[in-house]
Amino acid sequence: MSTNTERSRGPAIRVRNVEKSYKELHVLKGVDFEVARGSIFALLGSNGAGKTTAIKILSTLLKADGGTASVNGYDVATQAADVRESISLTGQFAAVDEVLTGRENLVLVARLRHLANPGKIADDLLARFSLTEAGGRKAGTYSGGMRRRLDISMSLIGNPPIIFLDEPTTGLDPQARIEVWDAVKELARNGTTVLLTTQYLDEAEQLADRIAILHEGRIIVNGTLAELKALLPPAKVEYVEKQPTLEDVFFAVVGDSAPGTGAGNVGDPAGSPVSSPVSTDK
Ligand SMILES: Nc1ncnc2c1ncn2[C@@H]1O[C@H](COP(=O)(O)OP(=O)(O)O)[C@@H](O)[C@H]1O
Ligand SMILES: [Mg+2]
Repeated sequence: MSTNTERSRGPAIRVRNVEKSYKELHVLKGVDFEVARGSIFALLGSNGAGKTTAIKILSTLLKADGGTASVNGYDVATQAADVRESISLTGQFAAVDEVLTGRENLVLVARLRHLANPGKIADDLLARFSLTEAGGRKAGTYSGGMRRRLDISMSLIGNPPIIFLDEPTTGLDPQARIEVWDAVKELARNGTTVLLTTQYLDEAEQLADRIAILHEGRIIVNGTLAELKALLPPAKVEYVEKQPTLEDVFFAVVGDSAPGTGAGNVGDPAGSPVSSPVSTDK
């Protein structure tokens, strides 16, 4: 579409000096960043840093007190309807209907969006996110990772160019996290711009083309993984690169199994989940 071609010249997301307070709590104190089209951008921050607040402002659910933000070339304050047509938002808590099968969930959303061939759309998405076999089962029987993958695939119906994923793997076990990471990589392969928030360093490391750390109301670092690593003393870089994470150990012990097969049971499940939240406040 010609309008899309016009818009594709600028960044997918541009945030300038955005501020937001909840009464006297000054959460965002002037946040700046840009997200290039077709890239995966991770907004990394500890619990309460303001990640969800930023996502809500960008998805027009919340108004900023100051600054400007545009999404797909549209101003979030003055062109909210255009912004909403350009995005999908997947929150921390899956919007999946448990009584319906995975396929029925997808068909329902496609119907609600008045799209032609909802069945084909559903089948294509099930295949894309390795859910074909599970498609006929009630979503209530799905594992956490399958459910989150279904949620992400539901949010893709209608092909929004930009997708927001707010803490897509929080609360998932290590196996499910890997499944969701694969789903996010799949999004980027298809050219979707992804802005994800996370508390997990390893998640940002795995997925993101660029990483910005939101801390005390501002973006304190913004760069590629290599650029971020270059900021750290060598000993720390060595730790990040070479020391196996608990997740590595977990998968070495349980063996890697295909998503949704039910294989890979852990003999001693007491140790999971095993990710380390970021702590920028040391
Ligand atoms: N509606 C609200 N009213 C008052 N305080 C809020 C509201 N939403 C979030 N907060 C507070 O703002 C801060 C940032 O919250 P949030 O954006 O959810 O952070 P994050 O997503 O990074 O965990 C937290 O201290 C939170 O308690
Ligand atoms: Mg949040």
